[in-house]
Amino acid sequence: MLDDSIIISYLKENIDEKRLAHSLGTAKEAVKLANKYRADAKKAHIAGLLHDVAKGKSQCGFKKYADQYGIDIDDIEAKNTELIHGKLGAAMVKEQLNIDDEDILCAIRWHTTGRAGMSLLEKIIYIADLIEPGRHFEGIEGIRVVAYQDIDKAMLLALEQVMCFVRSKGFALHPNSLEAYNYFKKEEVN
Ligand SMILES: [Fe+2]
Ligand SMILES: [Fe+2]
Repeated sequence: MLDDSIIISYLKENIDEKRLAHSLGTAKEAVKLANKYRADAKKAHIAGLLHDVAKGKSQCGFKKYADQYGIDIDDIEAKNTELIHGKLGAAMVKEQLNIDDEDILCAIRWHTTGRAGMSLLEKIIYIADLIEPGRHFEGIEGIRVVAYQDIDKAMLLALEQVMCFVRSKGFALHPNSLEAYNYFKKEEVN
């Protein structure tokens, strides 16, 4: 597995201080969640650190970089280009850091929209990203508590939060997020 110093210097080349602090917070939270749910804490640490590495590409346009990496963009991503940074980040770390671990790549890839049938590591990164100590929003304390009781229930709360946020911004909800929401809703009933 990659050395932390290599990852941190790679992050410093790609994202600003504020985003780096968020990434460190996400990694720390992800390790705590991994320990709680008996997931691979090392993978959680690496995916947490790297999940937002593509965020720094926003100034020059995510679409341009997506093209460069041969990433397909759907209609919703074309309108809300922020969504692209998950896919782009996974492609970047695969090529530039030679990370080929599918668990890590998928956790980075899916942290933006979520999806139906998410893996445990995908859920951990999704939730850690949302509740790391640097985050502040109404309702976060409830999600922080539930995150350590029932991660699927936390996913439901998180997706509800995201749905409200997306609507308030006037964007269309990505179908993967809706599918994720329906998936966790169904899990709740079963
Ligand atoms: Fe992100
Ligand atoms: Fe993030």
